[in-house]
Parts: sequence; structure tokens; C-alpha cells
Amino acid sequence: MESVQIFQAFCLAMAVFLLFLMCGISCCWWVLPNLAYRKLKENGFSGPKPSFPIGNMNEMKKKMNRVVSSSSTLSISHDIHSVVFPYFSRWQKLHGKVFVYWLGTEAFINIADPEFLKKMSADIKGKNWGKPSVFKNDREPMFGSGLVMVEGDDWVRHRHVITPAFSPPNLKAMAGLMVESATDMLDRWSALINSGKPEIDFEKEIINTTGEIIAKTGFGISYESGQKVFGKLRELQIILFKSNKYEGVPFSKFMNLKKTLKARNLGNEIDSLLVSIITDRLESSKGHPQNDLLGLLLSKKDVVGHPGTTLTTRELVDECKTFFFGGHETTALALTWTLLLLATNPEWQIQLREEIREVIGDGEIDATMVAGLKKMGWVMNEVLRLYPPAPNVQRQARQDIKVDNNYIIPRSTNIWIDVVSMHHDQDFWGENVNEFKPERFKDDPLYGGCKHKMGFLPFGFGGRMCVARNFATMEYKIVLTLILTRFSFSLSPLYCHCPAILLSLRPAGGLPLIFEPL
Ligand code: HEM
Repeated sequence: MESVQIFQAFCLAMAVFLLFLMCGISCCWWVLPNLAYRKLKENGFSGPKPSFPIGNMNEMKKKMNRVVSSSSTLSISHDIHSVVFPYFSRWQKLHGKVFVYWLGTEAFINIADPEFLKKMSADIKGKNWGKPSVFKNDREPMFGSGLVMVEGDDWVRHRHVITPAFSPPNLKAMAGLMVESATDMLDRWSALINSGKPEIDFEKEIINTTGEIIAKTGFGISYESGQKVFGKLRELQIILFKSNKYEGVPFSKFMNLKKTLKARNLGNEIDSLLVSIITDRLESSKGHPQNDLLGLLLSKKDVVGHPGTTLTTRELVDECKTFFFGGHETTALALTWTLLLLATNPEWQIQLREEIREVIGDGEIDATMVAGLKKMGWVMNEVLRLYPPAPNVQRQARQDIKVDNNYIIPRSTNIWIDVVSMHHDQDFWGENVNEFKPERFKDDPLYGGCKHKMGFLPFGFGGRMCVARNFATMEYKIVLTLILTRFSFSLSPLYCHCPAILLSLRPAGGLPLIFEPL
């Protein structure tokens, strides 16, 4: 009799538990997202109709024929928005330059209108922006709570620790190491060319070289010592970004448990490698603190005027991870797209060589000299416009944001700023928007004649703008100067123009070039 009662009580408890579970799931999968959908509609936003819990995922997953053209075709099209973000391009035509789409049950406002962006961000300080929780969660093994993802007062603290690493005197000291690594790469190429192999995959080469540069300048270690970290970061990047089909869908981590576990393990392995780099530095620098990035991160002293600006061990490891990754890939891709554009516009190779002769002559390259390479600055900006390595900028609203009297962006809504679209918008850049014309930056070096000041965002905007943009610009100019003074280059017939997104904007099949010594 008693056991029947126990069984009945157990069944009742199970039924209640299942009921709660079902309520929880339906709340998470349908009720809350539908309420949020309705609220966004009431607040003036339209967009493609989502079907919860996957949102607009199906349309985003649709395969596209991504090959734009091969190098044998005379012209390579730079009109890439509909190639790299076909779904955004489609939705923009239907719903305008500001619309809502859904990654699973997460609402994203897609913004390709600089005026909307200006109004939306006018009163919000860097520390008051959030980063999309869904990305913070999914990308945790890669960025943890490093500067890219951290928010609020913690962001202020991290930013104060890191900013001095890129001060002009520190940058000056890094120039020599950049020259050294780039020269080693070019010596390798000379040997290859001499042995009858003039075709080189530039993307592969430059990713290694910028990796070497950040390893030396940021962490005071050789590329070989950092190689394990780079290798594992690359593996992690592929796992996280190549097949993230269910981002934003509740419980998606459990749908692809193998991937989740692999990413977590790789993240842990990278953490241990970084801990040993940090321990080595602590041992080797006793009493002799260094002024590179790692030295500043390890400093136990507060930044002058900012008490409480030291980092915990966990934060330290996450910052190292952020800089190992962020510190090489974007600059490498900026240089990769530059060599593509210079290979297809050889008259600009000639112009830049002339400028280098005038500004630098036969002297040694240093930070001050490369700052004087104005035309190279136009070329860099024009490349970042056509092929921004960071193709979008993300935020999350931490409060309701009123834009004009027409829109309210509700708190917690994610924001996706479509940089590729804004950089290719004829309304702001004119009819030649998809042509390579560095001279557009001649009279307007900051905005390239764009009709709106927020229409050109290669390094982001506001207080969260790229902390290392001066470092990246100096590295870009030093490496490009050295390449142009030793080689001319043209496109290999094997090149296939296929820009694609793997977090950053890259040529899917690399960049094979034919190099010729000058
Ligand atoms: C051409 C090269 C580069 C480009 C195009 C680029 C672009 C960007 C963009 C678009 C952002 C987001 C800004 C925002 O949210 O408003 C960013 C942030 C950031 N970048 Fe760069 N970046 C480059 C090079 C670098 C390098 C070399 C490093 C490190 C040495 C670096 C470290 C960071 C960090 C840590 C942040 C986060 C800043 C914050 O949220 O406070 N970047 N970058």
C-alpha cells in the first residue's frame, strides 16, 4: 500500500517537473521571443518574418554560389555585399537600411544607415554599451572576458591598462621588430624565387609574419614559442565560425555537443599555454618590468589617475588570448586585400614606390618616416573601405534607446552594424563606389569624401574604437614599404575571387601571387 503511494507521489512529482520544463521551454522558445517581436514592431522596426525558435536561420543558411570571378576574368568585382552577406542584402532591399532579423530567439537590429547610427549612439559612452550575450557565450573559449567582450567599469579598467602599450614611444620601439620579421619573410621569398618558385600564397605568409610581429612586440617571445597558441587559435576559429548554424537557438550548445566540447577543450589548452608564457615572463623579468603589452598587463601598479586598474589572472589570460588573435589576423587581411588591389592596379604599385623613394629614400624605416607616407595612407583606407577585415561592429543595448521619435530600441536588443554595406553604399560614396580609387582620400584623408561622417568605420566607432589602430597602421605601412621596395607582383591565374566571412573578411582560397624581384 505504502509503495503504491510512493509511486503515485513520484509520478505526480515527475508530471509537475515535466509541466515546468514544458512551460520553461515554451516560454524560452516562443512566448518571450514573440513578445519581443511584437514590441520591436510596435517600436517601428520591420524585417523578415522569423519562425521561432530558429528565427531567420533557414534563409541565412541557404548556400550561395560565392565565386565572383577568377583572375582570368578581366575585371574583379568589388561589389561584395551581396556576396558575403546575401541575406542582409536581400532584406535591405525589402525593408530598408535598418531592419530586425533573428538569430534563433535573439533579435538583432541590422543598421546600414550612418545617420541612424549617429543618432542612436550620440548619447552613449563606450562603457555603457554591451556586447551581444549570445556571442559572449558562444565565443567564450576564444575571447573570454578580454577587451573585445568586456563591458561597463571592467571595460574602462582593461582599456586603461592596455592603451599605454600603443603610445607613440612604445610604437616607435616596436618598429625595429616589425622590420626584422618582414625582412625575414622577404628573404624567404627571394630564396623561393631563386629556386624557380615565384608563386607564393601571400595570405598564408603574411598571417605568419603578423603573428610573429605580435608575438615579439606584444609578448616578447619568438614566433616558434607562440606557434602552438596560434595553431590552436586557428583551429578554434574554424570550429566556432565555420559551422555556427544554430547561434541564438536555445540549447544550441547541446545540439552540437561534440563541437561545444572541442571548443572548450581547445580554449583550456590555449589558456594553459598562455599561463606558461606568463609564468616565464614573471620569472625572467623579476625587478626588470618590460614596457610591452604583457609587461603592462602584468604590472601590479595602478595606471596613474585610475585606481583599481590591475587585472586578475583570469582577465590576464583572456587579454593575452584576445591580443594573440586580434593582434595579427586583421592586419594580415588588410595587407592581403591590399596586395590583391595593387596586383590588379599596377600603376598604384609605381606611385607608392615613388613615394617611398621620396619619403624614405635609402634610409632605415622608422615610425616617424612611415607616418609621412600619405599616398600609402589613402591606399590603406581605400582597401579597408572595399574589403573591411572587420566586416561588422556589434553592440547590445543596455538601456532603452530612443532614436528620433520614431524608434525605441528596447534594452537587451542586439545591434549589428553592417560595415560592408555602408562602405559600398552608392548614396554616400557616389557612382564609383565599387571602384578602387585611393585618391578619394586625398582631400579628405579621414572620410574619403563619404557624405556621412559615420559611413566609414574600418576601426569601429566611439569609445570602443580599435585600441590598436595606430599599431596596425604602422605595421601595415612598414610591411608594405618593404615589400614594394624589393618586389613587384601580379595575380596568379590560380586566384579565385571569393571573399568570405570567417569572423573576418578573407579571400576564401588564399591569395596566390607571382613575385618578381626589382
Ligand atoms: C587593420 C587592422 C585592424 C582592423 C581593421 C581592426 C578593426 C577593429 C574593429 C572594427 C573593432 C571594433 C570596434 C568597435 O566595436 O567599435 C576593433 C576592436 C579591437 N581591436 Fe582592432 N583592428 C585591427 C587591428 C588590431 C590589432 C593589430 C589589435 C591588437 C594588437 C587589435 C585589437 C583590438 C581590440 C582589443 C579591440 C577591442 C576594443 C574595445 O572594445 O575596447 N586590433 N578592431
